[in-house]
Amino acid sequence: MSQKRKIAITADHGGVTLKTLIKQKFDEIEWIDLGTDSADSVDYPDFGFKLGEAIANGEIETGIAICGSGIGISMSLNRFKAVRAAVCHDVTTARLTRVDNNANVLCLGARVIGDVVALDTVKAFLDTGFEFGGRHERRVNKLAEKGQ
Ligand code: RB5
Repeated sequence: MSQKRKIAITADHGGVTLKTLIKQKFDEIEWIDLGTDSADSVDYPDFGFKLGEAIANGEIETGIAICGSGIGISMSLNRFKAVRAAVCHDVTTARLTRVDNNANVLCLGARVIGDVVALDTVKAFLDTGFEFGGRHERRVNKLAEKGQ
């Protein structure tokens, strides 16, 4: 029996509905759901930090994070050196951030993207690999060296 791919997902109240939709649509994935679980107002840094900590601890390699714009939760995540979180609202940038940046978290803004485009964007992110061994790897390594 083949093991399911494990991916973490998190959202604030602005992204909770899209989080549910993504989990339903990609049921071949084992989703590690870090909340939130209702439309009650929460603070996006709390949920971005949960995912950031799971990546920094090596518990999780890849994640999806959703807030209203995608921006606040990406800022929260990018405070962790181990995280390369990218806000993408189309298939092309989702693909390129895997190939060029080896992004390990896709951030979505549930209030700025339709469901169909969001699902296509997730698929592109999950299906694309990083281009190891060349200029992209050199550049990503430079990101890893910086941090204050
Ligand atoms: C929540 O209302 C909203 O501010 C948040 O989801 C996000 O858009 C912040 O960047």
